[in-house]
Amino acid sequence: MANPQLHPLEVNPKTGEPFLRLLAHKNIILTPLRLSDGPFLVSILNDEHVYPWLISPPYPYLPEHAEWWLNQVIPETDKLLAELEDARNDPTLKIVNGCPARVIREVKEDGTDIFLGEINLGLSHHWWELEGSGKASQETPRRDPNDPDIWMVGDYLASSHYGQGIMSDAFNTLLRQWGIPRMGVRRMVVSTLEGNKGSVRVFEKLGFKFRKTIDDTIEARGTMRGCACPGMDVGR
Ligand SMILES: CC(C)(COP(=O)(O)OP(=O)(O)OC[C@H]1O[C@@H](n2cnc3c(N)ncnc32)[C@H](O)[C@@H]1OP(=O)(O)O)[C@@H](O)C(=O)NCCC(=O)NCCS
Repeated sequence: MANPQLHPLEVNPKTGEPFLRLLAHKNIILTPLRLSDGPFLVSILNDEHVYPWLISPPYPYLPEHAEWWLNQVIPETDKLLAELEDARNDPTLKIVNGCPARVIREVKEDGTDIFLGEINLGLSHHWWELEGSGKASQETPRRDPNDPDIWMVGDYLASSHYGQGIMSDAFNTLLRQWGIPRMGVRRMVVSTLEGNKGSVRVFEKLGFKFRKTIDDTIEARGTMRGCACPGMDVGR
């Protein structure tokens, strides 16, 4: 029997892989990262419609960068799944610090799927996201209801699939189905490089309110760039 602690993730009966189906795009699911995803990471993260808007991934994005990423994320996901397995018999659903399903995949009619991108909720750690919160840094979630942790999102999508509402749906599904109930997310402050209108629009559609733009926030590929920082208090 599937581990009840995975709720509301489903489990693929053929592969045993947990997944979360998007609320509006029923042919799109979130799953864990797979060892076979390396070439897709390399292709999408070298796309001129994608990489200029991301701070962390190096450019050019090489196979060794993908290998490093797989070696970071897959063990983290395995640890999270093991934690949920250990709690299998607990009567209440455990609050955890991440979601095992973070890769956006389109499921084809024959049941195969294609890698479309990633979305991940994590603790905000950039100073411009924490500014004004009274928090200088966040190492691990403190879970203090009087001073909720501040969470952020990191995401990107294959440019072949832009403008179809996929990221808005992925973010909404992940936040409502897992972030709020299973990670205890109560407050989010996200940021985009200035000028990233598509990303800002995704946040607006989810109910984020624009807080401010901070000039010259971070150096991205040799140029100082500003950041837009929308925020949202998330209901229980
Ligand atoms: C940002 C990104 C994730 C959006 O994904 P997506 O699936 O196309 O997003 P959605 O279709 O859900 O919504 C995009 C919205 O932005 C709008 N938009 C896109 N480009 C725009 C632009 N240049 N100006 C104004 N609005 C724009 C779209 O019209 C849509 O709004 P609508 O539904 O009101 O029409 C995707 O473009 C991407 O991966 N970009 C590169 C990486 C990135 O920026 N990641 C986020 C880092 S913070």
